Amino acid sequence: MIQAPTREPSEQTMEAGIALAGVSRTFRGRGGSAVEALRDVSFEVAAGQIVSIVGPSGCGKTTLLELICGLQRPDAGNVRSAPAALMPQRDLLLPWLSALDNATLALRVRGVARNDARQQARPWFARFGLEGFELTRPAQLSGGMRQRVSFLRSLLAGKPVLALDEPFAALDAITRAEMQAWLAQTLASEPRTVVLVTHDVEEAVMIGDRVLVMSARPGQIVADLEVPLARPRHRTDPAVVELRGQALRALGVRS
Ligand SMILES: Nc1ncnc2c1ncn2[C@@H]1O[C@H](COP(=O)(O)OP(=O)(O)OP(=O)(O)O)[C@@H](O)[C@H]1O
Ligand SMILES: [Mg+2]
Repeated sequence: MIQAPTREPSEQTMEAGIALAGVSRTFRGRGGSAVEALRDVSFEVAAGQIVSIVGPSGCGKTTLLELICGLQRPDAGNVRSAPAALMPQRDLLLPWLSALDNATLALRVRGVARNDARQQARPWFARFGLEGFELTRPAQLSGGMRQRVSFLRSLLAGKPVLALDEPFAALDAITRAEMQAWLAQTLASEPRTVVLVTHDVEEAVMIGDRVLVMSARPGQIVADLEVPLARPRHRTDPAVVELRGQALRALGVRS
């Protein structure tokens, strides 16, 4: 009798996890110029874990997410990830489509018929505080609403991994705080493996199970901090403040 091959445990965890080993990425220009974006980056993200990544501008954070999503390939090292959906740094909503049709874009690309896709997306509009705005064009939505539509589009892509690239960077402080709480709640009810890139250290601690800190370019991981705190979290909790300080020190910011 032929037996099905047994799978390595690492392969099973990879069903929804991420593993990078010795990853480097250099961009080469036409005149022979080169920008070394990432150097020897290694880390793993377990299935269902939320990992925040903080680092200075230009240190290779977007490059890292694109590698995880398979949109780029490393020059050295190895990237393994379960299928991942990217929420890009700019929301990239199509201005001529309604919020509903923007949200269903990933489903449509996968071949789901328009009406079926709309049926699937509609209940989420109520859950995301967007009820009544289904037919509104992006230009008539607030910044926070646009980000929720953009997030919904990534979520409806149905991938086990979500790669979120500075999702709230463009929002004012109050909306950002609301959106952070909203994201934490949403991920509690819709668990995914998440890599959240942010330049906001407090956001990283408030949302992540873990915070990876990157150096300036070439980006390397300089700290890997566990955030063993229950949710909901509070900015003023001394443990949050302490972890924020640790991450800032790893970034080289003096308090
Ligand atoms: N397609 C590309 N071609 C050439 N250079 C690139 C390309 N993409 C990124 N780079 C360079 O690689 C470096 C890292 O870029 P990346 O966008 O990953 O940084 P980042 O950490 O996301 O920055 P930010 O916080 O400003 O979004 C930068 O110096 C950037 O100029
Ligand atoms: Mg970026």
